[in-house]
Amino acid sequence: MSSRRGNPSADGWLPQGGHKSRPYGGGDTAGQRRKMAVYDLTPVEVPTVETKYRRIKTKLPVPESLPIFESLGKSEPRSMMGQPPIVWDKAEDFIISDPWGNRWIDWSSGVLIANAGHGRKEIRDALREVIDRGLLASYVFVHERRARLAEMLCELSPDPQKYRVFLMSTGSEATENCIKLSKTYGLEKYGPHKKYVVSFNNAFHGRTMGAQLAGGWERQKRWMVDRDATFVQVPFPDGYKNEDTSFDLFLKTLAEKGVQPPDIAGVITETYQGGGPDFLPVEYAQKLEAFCREHDIVMCYDEVQAGFGRTGKMFGYEHYGVRPDLIACGKGISSSLPISAVIGREDIMDLYSPGSMTSTHSGSPLPVAAAIASLEIIRKERLAERAACMGEILMRELHRIQQKHAEVLGCVQGKGLVAGIQIVKPGTKIPDPDLALKINIACLHKGLLMFAPVGAVGDCIKIAPPLTIPEDALRESIQVLEEAVDEVLGPAL
Ligand SMILES: Cc1ncc(COP(=O)(O)O)c(C=O)c1O
Repeated sequence: MSSRRGNPSADGWLPQGGHKSRPYGGGDTAGQRRKMAVYDLTPVEVPTVETKYRRIKTKLPVPESLPIFESLGKSEPRSMMGQPPIVWDKAEDFIISDPWGNRWIDWSSGVLIANAGHGRKEIRDALREVIDRGLLASYVFVHERRARLAEMLCELSPDPQKYRVFLMSTGSEATENCIKLSKTYGLEKYGPHKKYVVSFNNAFHGRTMGAQLAGGWERQKRWMVDRDATFVQVPFPDGYKNEDTSFDLFLKTLAEKGVQPPDIAGVITETYQGGGPDFLPVEYAQKLEAFCREHDIVMCYDEVQAGFGRTGKMFGYEHYGVRPDLIACGKGISSSLPISAVIGREDIMDLYSPGSMTSTHSGSPLPVAAAIASLEIIRKERLAERAACMGEILMRELHRIQQKHAEVLGCVQGKGLVAGIQIVKPGTKIPDPDLALKINIACLHKGLLMFAPVGAVGDCIKIAPPLTIPEDALRESIQVLEEAVDEVLGPAL
């Protein structure tokens, strides 16, 4: 259930106010519109918190932490700033601690990495075993665990006998690989006219060039100046920012852009767009699949964020009843170390000859060991089912909180243990990033950690705890959110 009212704001950036002294985050540069949150680095007194899971006992940010932020400010690009100014020291399952005795319930999972929980013993033990052998790098020389992981990932595919797995390091590499394979498939089977990659407005597939060409954010692509015209975007059928969720709009947009279906090599979509999270309507996803089949288009699902139980299914596309040709995976695959994968149809995955589709760290031993241990935990503890179950509690409670402040909590969406609340100007769909940031900071001060608000302008409060979060901790954290919202917005009328 979502509130759907008023007119959407222009799909563009609205300025964030709230610049204070000693900001930690991004400012604006000419021609580069800012999205990053700005966190004040002036320590403030906050009420003490002491519960089973949370502890806040210092000013925030912690005065002793400031030299670390100052040092980073001098050595890193400011693009690396923009997250709440706490120093991570220890991570245990769903709790993050700093070196000064503060503890937060984690609603970030890093950035949707720690599906099986942070720092799980099973993962650490697996890593220790590999470390003790000194096997820290292997290029694509074979090691036993690589075979095990590839087999495990194949088993998760729509057809284990007919799918193959290619391991890499980052989600962007995985989506780039999907783009490359789609275009190669079109070229080799039909010739150079089958060259288009269709993706969606507001899509995010990573920050490398191909991933950004397929991405749907104009401001992220400005640096390219001239674009590859074979990348085209169509509106995403989210139902809130774009109320027309019909598949006809997909067809109509392609026609307007002069793209003929037989000329399309691949379609790529996130299983859900992160800033909502916005899912495709099931009917739309099925029509998209039929369209891809009709024109022999490679259908790619970017599961980098949605995969490995997050949405209440092992892969989010299972909600749609479709069978992607290529599946890009990352983040939650290992719940820890960097590793990504493309799981794909054998005939597409085998387009490249031996040695010509590899990466220096394909199947690197430590991330592989972490991924095996993480997948075993996800399976053994039935974390996908758990996420579905906990997600029902989460969504019920979020809708209840939304009802209290329906004027500004514009739209609540989610599935499994990923959810988002769009913060808007009263009674409209105009995003209110300043208010979103205030709520985010109020939560931080109470011992509930989220990453900075996401979405077009930083207007969406995103909720993504490890899938292992116990029910009492989930309920406690929802209560913290409610207190923070009540405090920031004032009592409900
Ligand atoms: C849906 C999606 N695809 C791709 C990526 C890129 O992954 P990475 O940052 O590991 O390159 C992300 C990262 O946020 C993502 O959410």
